[in-house]
Amino acid sequence: MILHNRMYSIIVLCILCSFCELTHTKLAPDFIRPCNETSRECLVKSTQDAIPEFVKGMPNLGVPPLDPFTIEKLSIPLSGLKVTFYQGKVTGFRKCIVDNVISELEKRHFVLEFHCNLTIKGAYDAVGKILLFPINGEGDAKIKLTNLRMKVDINTKYIKDNKGVNYFGLRNYKYSFDYGDRVTFDLQNLFKESKQLSDTVLAFLNENWRTVSEEFGKPIVDYAVELAIRTIEKFFLAVPYEELINVPIPS
Ligand SMILES: *[C@@H]1O[C@H](CO)[C@@H](O)[C@H](O)[C@H]1NC(C)=O
Ligand SMILES: *[C@@H]1O[C@H](CO)[C@@H](O)[C@H](O)[C@H]1NC(C)=O
Repeated sequence: MILHNRMYSIIVLCILCSFCELTHTKLAPDFIRPCNETSRECLVKSTQDAIPEFVKGMPNLGVPPLDPFTIEKLSIPLSGLKVTFYQGKVTGFRKCIVDNVISELEKRHFVLEFHCNLTIKGAYDAVGKILLFPINGEGDAKIKLTNLRMKVDINTKYIKDNKGVNYFGLRNYKYSFDYGDRVTFDLQNLFKESKQLSDTVLAFLNENWRTVSEEFGKPIVDYAVELAIRTIEKFFLAVPYEELINVPIPS
């Protein structure tokens, strides 16, 4: 009778275990190494280590690539000038350097600070006026950002699915950034009629890169940040909390 009971327990255990195996197959890719505590040191290191792989995208989890990513079409309406970018290809995220990560699990608050060199390549057209020059240009565009600094501040929440598995969710976010050390513009053909004028104005834009970036850049940065945040959100909703951080969820 005792033996029978034991056998019974073992069989039940085995069934339970195989069930666990089935429902708890790890979803996080191997490059995610969960921290055992929320120390800055561990969070920065594991975030830094994950970036080069994370930005390649994870099609099996529905997470798109971030390096490169494409801006199909983006219009920047300015007073007196309309600039549109087409097929912009943004590269460089894989080499971003993580400066700080704060994860306050109780406060449901997450902060990520990093800096990167990014390149945006594509085509553009511009119609209107820059300064006093009537502009009517179109051609290839290349913009390089050196040490763009960014701080993203995310309010999170915990979501439980119908199987009782926990996930990080996003409540809202805000961000701040600095154009960093240098932005260079290479915009071909600003004035269809005059190569010389095109070169002169392009040189002027580069000499005044900070002012020009502040005037033109925000829609592009907003677009990139929104896309990056939505990508991180997809990842959060696909991979359980327990696989991202090895600290119990605050009640
Ligand atoms: C967390 O602890 C486990 C078990 O001790 C260990 O294998 C793992 O490397 C630790 N994670 C980190 C990121 O240090
Ligand atoms: C960006 O490029 C500059 C100059 O080439 C270099 O000094 C800097 O370390 C780079 N920054 C990053 C985040 O790779």
